[in-house]
Amino acid sequence: MILTVRHSDWLASASDIDRSSVDLLYADPPFNTGKAKSGTRGHAAKYQDSWPTTAKYIEWLRERLAATLPALKPTANILLHVDYRTSHHVRHLLDELLGADRFVNHLIWSYGLGGSSPRSFARKHDDILYYCIDPKKYYFKPPRVPATSRRMQGQTKKATDVLDIPSLNNMAAERTGYPTQKPLALLELLVEACCPPGGMVLDPCCGSGTTLVAATRLGRSAIGFDISAAAVRTARKRLSQR
Ligand SMILES: C[S@@+](CC[C@H](N)C(=O)[O-])C[C@H]1O[C@@H](n2cnc3c(N)ncnc32)[C@H](O)[C@@H]1O
Repeated sequence: MILTVRHSDWLASASDIDRSSVDLLYADPPFNTGKAKSGTRGHAAKYQDSWPTTAKYIEWLRERLAATLPALKPTANILLHVDYRTSHHVRHLLDELLGADRFVNHLIWSYGLGGSSPRSFARKHDDILYYCIDPKKYYFKPPRVPATSRRMQGQTKKATDVLDIPSLNNMAAERTGYPTQKPLALLELLVEACCPPGGMVLDPCCGSGTTLVAATRLGRSAIGFDISAAAVRTARKRLSQR
């Protein structure tokens, strides 16, 4: 099994990945919130999450995605994790780079926790845009989740495109303090559904390494990049403790 975590800009390392070697590209880039993100629990990590304009953010993403496409297998999947600020622009970008017929799902990660504004419905979800390289060949194993109806108590049902998974609360054992760390339960579900056993997962903005931990726990190889040295340290530590 291959496991690589590199301190690097996604763009600088994209061309180093072997051609047609990646089964799943999952990217959770900065969301362009316009704010700097800092860690909790005394974690030193910080990253800038602001671009002068949305167009510049989309250009930044376009350049990196385009440089990564040659690394994907014909059976590969792409999951782009963004939010309401840019999901409509990113969908256009993916349509343009891959073709609108490569769109598979617009997944909603519904997470519950967090504040709310008195001037709008509470914003409690992220958007995960799911595209494939070849609509006839892409790998997909439908995930199953616990059924909620009384009739099906104790059974599972096929997951819908709304994934109800709580975000990490302050007491969660897996919490590293790295900003915007995603829950392992979400990444395990996505990896199992979209990467075949023994396959290769790439997370080019790996942060605290959640995707890499999920992949290795599920018997997949994993490559991660991050521009932040603190992120790479955190990811390596998590992987060594697995
Ligand atoms: C939303 S966070 C990822 C969080 C991660 N999914 C987790 O569970 O911990 C985005 C990450 O992108 C990284 N990043 C920003 N610009 C980057 C670039 N040009 N190349 C690689 N990583 C970058 C940031 O340092 C940050 O760790």
